[in-house]
Amino acid sequence: MDLGLAGKSVIVTGGASNIGRAIALGFAREGANLVIADLDVAQGEAVVQEARRLSNGAAELVPTDVTDAGQVQRLVETAVKRFGGVDVLVNNVGWDQLMFFTQTTPEFWEKIVRINYFSVLHCTRAVLEPMIKAQRGAIVSLSSDAGRQGEPREAVYGGIKAGISAFMKTIAKENGRYGIRCNAVCPGVTVPEEDVEVGDNSMWKQKDSMFTPEQFDRIAKALPLRKLGRPRDVANAVVFLASDTVAGHITGQVLSVSGGYSMVG
Ligand SMILES: NC(=O)c1ccc[n+]([C@@H]2O[C@H](COP(=O)([O-])OP(=O)(O)OC[C@H]3O[C@@H](n4cnc5c(N)ncnc54)[C@H](O)[C@@H]3O)[C@@H](O)[C@H]2O)c1
Repeated sequence: MDLGLAGKSVIVTGGASNIGRAIALGFAREGANLVIADLDVAQGEAVVQEARRLSNGAAELVPTDVTDAGQVQRLVETAVKRFGGVDVLVNNVGWDQLMFFTQTTPEFWEKIVRINYFSVLHCTRAVLEPMIKAQRGAIVSLSSDAGRQGEPREAVYGGIKAGISAFMKTIAKENGRYGIRCNAVCPGVTVPEEDVEVGDNSMWKQKDSMFTPEQFDRIAKALPLRKLGRPRDVANAVVFLASDTVAGHITGQVLSVSGGYSMVG
C-alpha cells in the first residue's frame, strides 16, 4: 500500500539505534527524504548508508544534541533548506536507567527531564514554524507504557512519558487548525535482535544492564502475546501515524505497541 510518504521531509531524532533506527529505515523504505538527528555519528552514518541502499529518497545525518535549543534550530533549518520543509517529526530520543525512586538523585531527575522532555519541547517548537507555514505536518512522539501503567524502577521516566502523551494532545488541539496531526506511541519492552541495531550510546548496548535473560523471559511470558517487542513493531506504528493517507483523521491519540501489556479503553 502506498502510504504517500515518498519525497516527504522526515526528521527522526535518535535515529541511529534500536527503535529510532527501525523508524528511520521504515521511512526510507517508503521513499521519504530522511534527516537523522543523533549524537552518535558513527552509528548514525551507518544507518544513513543503509537507508540509501533501501530508498530512492535522500538520507542525511545531522549530528545534533536535541537537548540544546540552538542545535535543534540548526537541525530544522538544515532540513528546510535541504528538503523544502519538514513534513514529519519523530521525537524518538529517550533515556532511562532502572532504579527505585529512593535510589535516585536530583541530578538524575534533571538528566531524565532534559533528555526525555526538553528534547521533545525543543524539536516540537522548532518544527511548528515551518509546519504552520506549510499548513500541514505530522508529529509522532515516543512515549512509553511506563507512563500509562506506572512501572517500578521507572518513576521519573514514567512521569515524564505521561507528560509527553499529555503534551502531544495539547499540541494536537492547538495545531489541528493548521493541518498538523500529533500522536504518541507507547512501546513496551522493545529489544534489538542484532548488534548492528545499536551504537555505543544506546541504552541496549549492554543488553544485560537493563534486564537479565531470566527477566526478559518473565516479561515476555506475562504479555498477552507472549513475546517481547522488536524495533520494527514500533516503527510500523510510527510510520502509520505519520502518513496522511492512512492516518489523516487521527490526532491526539496515544497508541501502545506492547504485546497487550497496556489496554486502554
Ligand atoms: N526500548 C524500549 O524498551 C522502550 C520502551 C518504552 C519506550 N521507549 C522509548 O522509545 C524511544 C527509543 O528507545 P530505544 O530503546 O530505541 O533507545 P536507544 O537508547 O537504543 O537509542 C536512543 C538513541 O538516541 C540517541 N540520543 C540519546 N540522547 C540524545 C541526544 N541528547 N541528542 C540526540 N540523540 C540522542 C542515542 O545516541 C541513540 O541512538 C525512547 O524515547 C524510549 O524512551 C523504549
